[in-house]
Amino acid sequence: MAVSADAPSSSDLLAAEVARRRTFAIISHPDAGKTTLTEKTLLYAGAIELAGAVRGRKSQRHALSDWMEVERQRGISITSAALEFELDDCKITLLDTPGHRDFSEDTYRTLLAVDSAVMVIDAAKGIEDQTRKLFEVCRRRGLPILTFVNKLDLPSRDPLELVDEIERVLQIAAAPVNWPIGDGDRFKGVYDLERHQVLLYERSVGGQRRAPVAVTSVTDPLLVTLLGEAACARLREAVALLETAGTPFDRDAYLAAAQTPVFFGSALTNFGLEPFLRALVQLAPSPRPRPSTRGLIDPTAPDFSGFVFKIQANMNPRHRDRIAFVRVCSGRLSRDMQVMNPRLKTPVRLARPHRFFGRERETVETAVAGDVVGLVNPGRFAIGDTLFAGTPAEYPPIPRFAAEHFGIARLRDIRFKQFDEGVKQLEEEGLMQVVFPTAGRREPILGVVGALQLDVVEARLTSEYGVSCEVQRLNYVSARWVAGSDEAMRAIELPGQGVLQATDRQGRLVLLFASSWELDYCQRKNPDLELLAVA
Ligand code: G4P
Repeated sequence: MAVSADAPSSSDLLAAEVARRRTFAIISHPDAGKTTLTEKTLLYAGAIELAGAVRGRKSQRHALSDWMEVERQRGISITSAALEFELDDCKITLLDTPGHRDFSEDTYRTLLAVDSAVMVIDAAKGIEDQTRKLFEVCRRRGLPILTFVNKLDLPSRDPLELVDEIERVLQIAAAPVNWPIGDGDRFKGVYDLERHQVLLYERSVGGQRRAPVAVTSVTDPLLVTLLGEAACARLREAVALLETAGTPFDRDAYLAAAQTPVFFGSALTNFGLEPFLRALVQLAPSPRPRPSTRGLIDPTAPDFSGFVFKIQANMNPRHRDRIAFVRVCSGRLSRDMQVMNPRLKTPVRLARPHRFFGRERETVETAVAGDVVGLVNPGRFAIGDTLFAGTPAEYPPIPRFAAEHFGIARLRDIRFKQFDEGVKQLEEEGLMQVVFPTAGRREPILGVVGALQLDVVEARLTSEYGVSCEVQRLNYVSARWVAGSDEAMRAIELPGQGVLQATDRQGRLVLLFASSWELDYCQRKNPDLELLAVA
């Protein structure tokens, strides 16, 4: 069949597909409204029909003891790795970052797989602890960030003060794109600073919006009719200040992660939601080139490449399998294609790549940069693995963090096989590091970055692997992998009883210290040995 000269080439088609991808994650302190915003985004995009489908009640979500129960009751699990949906001709992939109080490596890895982030801030609380930590991770990656200041329908802090706090605490320029009209009961909507439009909302089930009202400027007398004298005066005052002293929005600065555009609203009542979602489509970047061992790889390069950023076991109790999530970085992934995994130095056939939406899964025929696909993982993929077709390339390894909390996992029944399997699979997920004491019973010692992870491991071993077990906290504060010559290893000098000797699965020596003093002592006494914080 003759191909018309005007028919788009496959590289044009690939470029067009990539250009409409938006892959992002939401970062926030727990309770700021991440889940509500996720749910409202899905509702708005028509991806779900029912408010409340995304989450269980807060009381349930935060109770770790009924972890599994929580999972079961969620319509769409909030731990589902990737939600994919269409919005205004864009294909959006929203990657989940677990809403733990503790920093988790899982979140860090997820932030490596996105092209931008949304930061949700509670308007009454401002920048909270976890927001700051996650923001730092985004900053190190140079991720562009859109800010959504949430819960304006409740009594809130002065918006000028909030913008100032973002700039001061996070050290990033903050450019308000719209401005709240009132707060709490008097929150009426937002004023679009660029278009000079007032977006007024009605408080109703579903948070309906009235048609936007264009005004010539804040001095337009129509505003007094719409808002009343007092609210109008406050708005004028704020806008006058912003126009003289505020940071104007600059897309290039946003893309360079030097500025964050700020939107105000209320996810619960839908106020200010559309301008924010429009920005997600219009401002947020599509996939960009990524550094690799063969230099920057363009997302529209013809050869497929991607990397595994997450492994999750037991996503669906009916399948009981492990899924490796791959972020596609270039080219086209297609079903059944052969790719290389340089770590294993063997080709792998991508027999059934999946796409997930909560618990639902479907086979994917093809995927391009920005997409996330799940591969059933019979132990062949590890976190950080690069997969490629064509010209060899490897993406940088995913860094691990030093564990700061430790616990010993004790089996309370005789289901040894399930217990070992569970510990191994959860380790493979990157949930914890595992070592075994060199003396005494070979019970696994788990090392984690945030203490809460130990509870998660215990709950998951019970619910997903059906074993009765307990993770008992240990007093150690750090673990070090010991490296050096055989001679230096044999001559190792340890500070008394406080140090536990263990080995990892590869048989490497690992020391667990109960204080930083002991660690320093050990380092001073053994200058020929290297004490490494991660394997
Ligand atoms: P998270 O994922 O960041 O932890 O926060 P989530 O969305 O679960 O929101 C935490 C609480 O704040 C929830 O209430 C939620 O309904 C409420 N919330 C979120 N956005 C808004 C908003 O714009 N305005 C108001 N007034 N509340 C908001 P909860 O009662 O703690 O939980 P639930 O019982 O509603 O699940």
